[in-house]
Amino acid sequence: MRPAGRLDRIPAYLFAEIERKIAEKKAAGVDVISLGIGDPDMPTPPNVVKAAVRAVQDPGTHQYPSNRGRPEFREAVSSFYRTRFGVDLDPETQVIPAIGGKECIFNINFAFLDAGAVALAADPGYPPYTGGPLIADAEPVLMPLVPELGFVPDLDAIPDQARDRARLMFVNYPNNPTGAVVPEGFFERVVEFARAHDILVVHDSAYSELTYDGYVAPSFLATPGGMEVGVEVFSLSKGWNMTGWRCAAIAGNADAIAAYWKLKTNVDSGLFDAVQLAGVEALTGPQDSVREMCTIYQRRRDLVIGALREIGIDIEPPQGTIYIWAPVPAGHTSASFAEEVLEQSAVVVSPGSAYGPNGEGFFRISLTVPDERLAEAVERLRSSL
Ligand SMILES: Cc1ncc(COP(=O)(O)O)c(C=O)c1O
Repeated sequence: MRPAGRLDRIPAYLFAEIERKIAEKKAAGVDVISLGIGDPDMPTPPNVVKAAVRAVQDPGTHQYPSNRGRPEFREAVSSFYRTRFGVDLDPETQVIPAIGGKECIFNINFAFLDAGAVALAADPGYPPYTGGPLIADAEPVLMPLVPELGFVPDLDAIPDQARDRARLMFVNYPNNPTGAVVPEGFFERVVEFARAHDILVVHDSAYSELTYDGYVAPSFLATPGGMEVGVEVFSLSKGWNMTGWRCAAIAGNADAIAAYWKLKTNVDSGLFDAVQLAGVEALTGPQDSVREMCTIYQRRRDLVIGALREIGIDIEPPQGTIYIWAPVPAGHTSASFAEEVLEQSAVVVSPGSAYGPNGEGFFRISLTVPDERLAEAVERLRSSL
């Protein structure tokens, strides 16, 4: 047996390694608190679960779903986009369900990258922006995100030869892992750049609903010209605590959606109809639970920021996402700090370097553990560091 060479080009998936370390400690009887993975600890809203139960009991949902999606789902996404973002989407041609944002991002690479083409990917960034292109025999070219520029890429610094070969650009605000929100005018610059170089912009809006201090995240598709050059990957995972359901959509430029659909029909058999109907309820039903979650995450965010200040790490509270991105103390690398935290406090934090070379020097804390566990983790950090 000889696995394909492409597997040698990609690192083991970040969280696979973290999960292995946690399992090792737990097996040794240690009470580990993981602040590593961004998987909401709160349940899916009850109205969504009820809708899913009804849908599962209907034999009409038991056969292969259409890869185009149920009309109700496409209409729900379209109606959500209209009221929430002021964006008009034709449910017939501009929306398709995806089996989670991760699947969608991965498949976009195959729909748009020939071997040797370039995908521009934020660094640090969500790992599939680089893993996807590598598996597609293409080349991810990293766009550094640094605090001095507000964690947005410097588009003028992208090398000419990368720009000319680029077919895709991945951007993501509110941003994982930095927690940054999009600064005024940045999406407009991205549209201009994409037009000039014939690039499809993939805006990953996984965290658009999780924002704080009154900040409301915009859709890239609301930017003038955004619909002409881009698509948005809209996941219900984080906003509605639905990570296990694998419910997302791709929306935007109709030609890009058609290409994605053509690829997808050859790859999978669509999103389970009952999950689509649960998604309809999430998007069109009461939105109180999303607001409640924002309140909870904001409280947790402030708890962590306060504790970090006490151990000498002073950062601005992020206005979005479920993450805190902070510099490691002097004398540490990302990996040595994560290692020390695990050894000294049995707390898991993600080393920033796992999100790309520009993540070196940082670590990420996820706010997705219950309040009392987070308080305990913070106490352990305070007393052991
Ligand atoms: C930026 C970003 N995009 C996409 C995803 C994946 O979401 P999904 O659960 O829809 O696959 C995540 C998950 O952590 C993420 O952080």
